Amino acid sequence: MDIQNKENIILLDHPLLKHKITLLRDKRTGTNEFRQLVKEIAVLEGYEALRHLKTELIEVETPIETTKQPMISGKKLCFVPILRAGLGMVEGMLSLVPSAKVGHIGLYRDEVTHEPHEYFCKLPYGIAERETYVLDPMLATGGSACDAVKLLKEKGAKNITFICIIAAPEGVKTFHDAYPDVPLYIGALDRCLNENAYICPGLGDAGDRIFGTLK
Ligand code: PRP
Ligand code: URA
Repeated sequence: MDIQNKENIILLDHPLLKHKITLLRDKRTGTNEFRQLVKEIAVLEGYEALRHLKTELIEVETPIETTKQPMISGKKLCFVPILRAGLGMVEGMLSLVPSAKVGHIGLYRDEVTHEPHEYFCKLPYGIAERETYVLDPMLATGGSACDAVKLLKEKGAKNITFICIIAAPEGVKTFHDAYPDVPLYIGALDRCLNENAYICPGLGDAGDRIFGTLK
């Protein structure tokens, strides 16, 4: 799939982002550093994904004079991490918009079929009026991403954006075919999936690396 010219697929290419994702991939990167990197990457990706936010002029008194200057208007944002690994991105996003609400969607992939299963969903009130940002470091087959967006739409969310750190081409195609209206921000686009539906070269199991539950 040629994603270069696809509307709503945004492959980010900042050198700082690339550098941090390379550190994340390294199998020698331990839990502590991994968590810190996921947080920093979320800040860099969030900065881009929130670029369109509207501002309004607010009066402010500087030590010199009174002036009208821009502030973000209508801050009705909601961040929705997909449990577990998406949790690692929440703090970074909240450092950009501390007033955002946070919902949670719990999905796990069956180890054999790789199909996602929902086990939790708690969203803030008024989801229909909020800009909703779904957070998950990994977009592999795209099954979890599609299920999360489907669930959000069923609950009334209208303005949805998906932010991932590493994506496989197969998952990007599945997601974009299902939800061409949902902007997809990607930190790195990898080669393919392996026979276990892991991303190659990827970083392994994101949830296990964030929470230190590697076998
Ligand atoms: C991982 C990852 C995504 C999903 C991606 O979660 O965080 O949610 O897999 O794979 P997919 O695109 O093929 O659906 P996992 O199911 O391993 O759960 P965890 O975060 O609790 O480890
Ligand atoms: N989930 C992960 O955490 N890693 C992958 O490579 C694929 C799915």
